[in-house]
Amino acid sequence: MGRHTRHAAAIAAALAVVGAAAWLGLSSGEEPAAQVGSGGTVAAAAKNRVTQPLRDEHKELIPHIDGLAAAGDAVGVASSTEQQEKVHASYVFLTEHLIPHAVAEDKVLYAKVDELVGVNGQTHATDTMRRDHEEVGTLTDALGKLGGTLEKGELAAADQHELRRVLYSLNGIVGLHFAKEEEVYLPLLDRTLSAEQAQAMFEQMEEVTAKEAGGQGHAH
Ligand SMILES: [Fe+2]
Ligand SMILES: [Fe+2]
Repeated sequence: MGRHTRHAAAIAAALAVVGAAAWLGLSSGEEPAAQVGSGGTVAAAAKNRVTQPLRDEHKELIPHIDGLAAAGDAVGVASSTEQQEKVHASYVFLTEHLIPHAVAEDKVLYAKVDELVGVNGQTHATDTMRRDHEEVGTLTDALGKLGGTLEKGELAAADQHELRRVLYSLNGIVGLHFAKEEEVYLPLLDRTLSAEQAQAMFEQMEEVTAKEAGGQGHAH
């Protein structure tokens, strides 16, 4: 085993331990771990979280995030109808659900987090998250173009590669992004906001989401 292989194996082993610890609820933070305890404990923990509505909204979006990877798997493999349907469904999910949700976060949720964590000159605590949203927008545009080509006929091998890369990237980026929101920012809001403040924030987010979703058409 080479030096780098050994190093990589050690990192993988450490990550596996961290993953197992997180799964077992052995987190060192003070946040309630939703996965642990009896049903009663989970329900009580969920009830105390003022950000539960956003967590529920995320949960509804998870199957669609998995669908991005499934669409990637279908490219060049499934029938052309199935490929087109899966790519189209991914595009509709991104433009009509996920991106409006992201705009509402930029305008309302992240603004609230910035208010609590602070801003240093031009740097906001949530800049890295906003950058994730931008990347999702760029990849969605690429998906729209490739989806359009797919609907016109067979994709060239290079385009198939590109389409798979785009779909798998979206799957990875959005999945990790959701985890960061839920594990880092939402606990901060749970600790800080009253139920009324959280309610007001979600109402504002809903308004923005509805406006954004209403204004979205899609290109193919
Ligand atoms: Fe987000
Ligand atoms: Fe989100």
